[in-house]
Amino acid sequence: MQEQIKQRLENIISTMTQLPSIPDVVSRIINMVNDPNVDFKAVAEEIAKDQSLTTNILKLCNSAYFSKGKEIVSVDRAIVTLGLKEIKDIVVLVTCRNVLDKPILGYDLAAGEMWTHNLTVAILAKKMAMDIKRKDLADIVFTGGIIHDVGKTVLALYVANTFKDIMKVTQEKAVTFIDAEKDVMGFNHQDIGLKILEKWKFPDSLKAVVAYHHNPENSPKEFYKAVSIVHVANIITLMAGVGIGGDGLYHALNPDAVKETGISDADLEKYYSIVPEIVKQAKQI
Ligand SMILES: [Fe+2]
Ligand SMILES: [Fe+2]
Repeated sequence: MQEQIKQRLENIISTMTQLPSIPDVVSRIINMVNDPNVDFKAVAEEIAKDQSLTTNILKLCNSAYFSKGKEIVSVDRAIVTLGLKEIKDIVVLVTCRNVLDKPILGYDLAAGEMWTHNLTVAILAKKMAMDIKRKDLADIVFTGGIIHDVGKTVLALYVANTFKDIMKVTQEKAVTFIDAEKDVMGFNHQDIGLKILEKWKFPDSLKAVVAYHHNPENSPKEFYKAVSIVHVANIITLMAGVGIGGDGLYHALNPDAVKETGISDADLEKYYSIVPEIVKQAKQI
């Protein structure tokens, strides 16, 4: 059966047809905002072409987490008030929710559990970036936090059939769940996540977060800090019991990645202790 699964996943990856889709407007907006010569009017026009996207963006701009106090009633105002990067984060939130907010059965995550996990990682990672004075990384780690486990949406079906084998490998070979996934299925959820982001035409920074969030040591140098922040936020969120599912306790915190973030042991404990508060914020979004 394992050979069949490996073959099947190889087909899915090479044809890309069965990987989840999101609207093309998302990659257009991400790439526009990443362009230092971006014209904010052009971004507003791009968003305005999609009525339901516009409605959902305005709803989120006025939610407890994003609101700056005054009610926002137009995309133009939203961009001026929150800034382009925050609007881009909101676009990703709104559009990826359809893909990510469903039960991930192979990993033993009920509907909504994975979404709460993603948002908690996103909010915590953004807080860490701000705390270490790397505001420039805030949007990458927030968006990266939302989508870091996207590969699980595809892999879940196969994990459901091989869970016992994967657990056996974690115990017999004393490896983490991510290595055991690869051992048993030929791919782990980072590999599949990377393929999904290639299909979605997302930028290299986000591909790095998705592809290396359990193995930050393999990340390209230029994205190492962002990947490390999401890695630490993810493990802390799991340790606090948010979205642990079947695999949650079989992932490890990488000490070099912690060092790269500059976060002290005392701060790690502080972040751990505020997870319940962050979960509350996540649920308000
Ligand atoms: Fe993961
Ligand atoms: Fe995760």
